[in-house]
Amino acid sequence: MLIRIALALACFALAACDRELATGSLDGAEIFRARCATCHGDRGQPPEAMVARLGVKDLTARELRAKITPELVGAQVRHGSQNKLMPSFAGALSDEQIDAVAAYVASPGFVAAR
Ligand code: HEC
Repeated sequence: MLIRIALALACFALAACDRELATGSLDGAEIFRARCATCHGDRGQPPEAMVARLGVKDLTARELRAKITPELVGAQVRHGSQNKLMPSFAGALSDEQIDAVAAYVASPGFVAAR
C-alpha cells in the first residue's frame, strides 16, 4: 500500500508516467487507463477530438452496452477495428492482460462507477 502511494506520488511528480503500465499488470482498470484512455477517455467516453479524428466509439453508449461481452472486447483488442483506426494490441499486451481489460470494460461496474 505504501509502495503504491509512493509510486503514485512519484508518477505525479514526473507527470509523464501516469500512462505507464507496470509490466505484467493484470489490473483491468490500470491497463485501460494506460492503453485505452488516450482514445476512449478515462471512463469510456472519448474526447471530442478523438471522435472527430478517428471516429472512436463511446464505450458507455447504450447500443454498445446492450451487446457488450468480454469476448467482444477481447476480439476488438486482439485484432483492432476492421477499419484499422483502432490498432491491434496482440503482442503489446499479453493474453492475460487482454482478458483482464476486456472483463473490466464489459463489466457493469465500468459504467456504474461514473
Ligand atoms: C488509437 C485509438 C484507440 C485506442 C488506443 C483504443 N481504441 Fe478502441 N476504438 C477505437 C476506434 C477508432 C474505434 C471504433 C472503430 C470502428 O468504428 O470500428 C474503437 C472501438 C472500440 C470498441 C467497440 C467495438 C464495437 O464492436 O463497437 C471497443 C470495445 C474498444 N474500442 C475497446 C478498446 C480497448 C479495451 C482498448 C485498450 C486496450 C482500446 N479500445 C484502445 C480507437 C482506439
